[in-house]
Amino acid sequence: MRDDDLEAFLAHQQDPEAARMAAMPSRDRDAFLAHWARIRADPSNILRTVVADGAVAGNVVSWKVVSGEQEGRRLVGYWIGREHWGRGVATAALGRFLDLLPDRPVHVYVAVANAGSVRVLRKCGFHPLGLPVTGADGIEEALYVLD
Ligand SMILES: CC(C)(COP(=O)(O)OP(=O)(O)OC[C@H]1O[C@@H](n2cnc3c(N)ncnc32)[C@H](O)[C@@H]1OP(=O)(O)O)[C@@H](O)C(=O)NCCC(=O)NCCS
Repeated sequence: MRDDDLEAFLAHQQDPEAARMAAMPSRDRDAFLAHWARIRADPSNILRTVVADGAVAGNVVSWKVVSGEQEGRRLVGYWIGREHWGRGVATAALGRFLDLLPDRPVHVYVAVANAGSVRVLRKCGFHPLGLPVTGADGIEEALYVLD
């Protein structure tokens, strides 16, 4: 990824429809830039820009859980801008990202209501691990794994 990509990522995560789908509250500009500065400073994170038709279409990122019961577990997240939805971009991007990521297993948390994301995971070979859990925020979330 390049510094310039951040403007597109910011717009994508501030899209209310996308935030609702992902069940992730949008960050304001300052909080968003501070978050990305933090994750870019950690060399164990893997951060890639998704490019579609020459435009910044989104990102795929991976990080390691650093403490607690899940310490050492590698997680993946992805976010595609709405103007690129429904054309196989997320499936292709996650598939290519997994090709360059040596770690297995890989885990992804997903809101059960996020049908598009669940479908992307299934198409990339993930399966659910355990039963979904409803958090304090009332959102039902499932853990998917690629072995
Ligand atoms: C979820 C998201 C990644 C899907 O991206 P995308 O590029 O549109 O996905 P794809 O085009 O690769 O679609 C893959 C499959 O999901 C299906 N799909 C996509 N969006 C869908 C939706 N909203 N509802 C139901 N199915 C959907 C597609 O039809 C396709 O299935 P098919 O091949 O059987 O037809 C994208 O909408 C997004 O980034 N949303 C906001 C952030 C987010 O939710 N991130 C994931 C957090 S876990």
